[in-house]
Amino acid sequence: MSTVLMNGEFIPREEAKVDIEDRGYQFGDGIYEVIRVYNGKMFMAKEHLERLSASSEKIGIATSYSISELTILLEELIAKNSLSTGILYMQFTRGVSPRNHSYPETVAPAFVAYTKPLSRPLDNLENGVGTITVEDIRWSRCDIKSLNLLGNVMAKQKAAEAGCFESIQYRDLSVTEGSSSNIWIVNGGKIRTHEANQFILNGITRQKIIQLCEENGIEVEEKAFSIEDLIDADEVFLSSTTAEVTPITAVNNVPVKEGNIGEVTKKLQDLFVEAIVGECGQIS
Ligand SMILES: Cc1ncc(COP(=O)(O)O)c(C=O)c1O
Repeated sequence: MSTVLMNGEFIPREEAKVDIEDRGYQFGDGIYEVIRVYNGKMFMAKEHLERLSASSEKIGIATSYSISELTILLEELIAKNSLSTGILYMQFTRGVSPRNHSYPETVAPAFVAYTKPLSRPLDNLENGVGTITVEDIRWSRCDIKSLNLLGNVMAKQKAAEAGCFESIQYRDLSVTEGSSSNIWIVNGGKIRTHEANQFILNGITRQKIIQLCEENGIEVEEKAFSIEDLIDADEVFLSSTTAEVTPITAVNNVPVKEGNIGEVTKKLQDLFVEAIVGECGQIS
């Protein structure tokens, strides 16, 4: 039986219940994070928790813990569930209050965190994945990691129905991001991804990749690119906490690089694994 952290208490999963008037449940009025755990250790916890805090400030939810308090609680949760390789999911909602669109005045935020075992996606990392392009129908505050994921869910479902791993979204013919990932192209050894503005989530994996590029002399540009650029690219890949650096081998059934994984993508995969090993120890 797994343990869940709910409003400061460690309780069995079966006892964790949501009130029907929780604003996260009714309005998607809340924010969340997903942190990777390797060898029982969180990867880039500080960056994820800082983003959680930034998201909460952007929507005016006063989270109940400091980053260091939350880190200690999450480490305890990992230990209680003996999690080795997996993820930590956590969310804050604005709390429980009679249904009314405007913010309630004196309500404590509701917090929940749980763990889930999840292996590294070795097959995808090695062989790449197929994608489709879909119009980005989401709102214009995609920088907030909000519980409102309907646009993302609909985009992912289209990918699933097309037998693909991910949807690549575009807004006014510019590629923004995947339904749950950031999208990158490589041309002439130089990599490019959408700038971190209100139209994408500034992925923690994205930030790590940029840092690794800068440290290793790989040229990186943060500037939106078109669907044409995507289709003409030498290499395409996606990044996220759970997918790491995953090669994209096809877009709309058209192979990228004849379906082979590019050298720059492979180099970034290696550098990313080194970063994980540096922080969490050896992985397979
Ligand atoms: C819409 C969206 N973009 C990008 C990402 C990648 O972010 P991260 O690398 O922090 O997982 C995610 C992750 O879930 C996402 O949902």
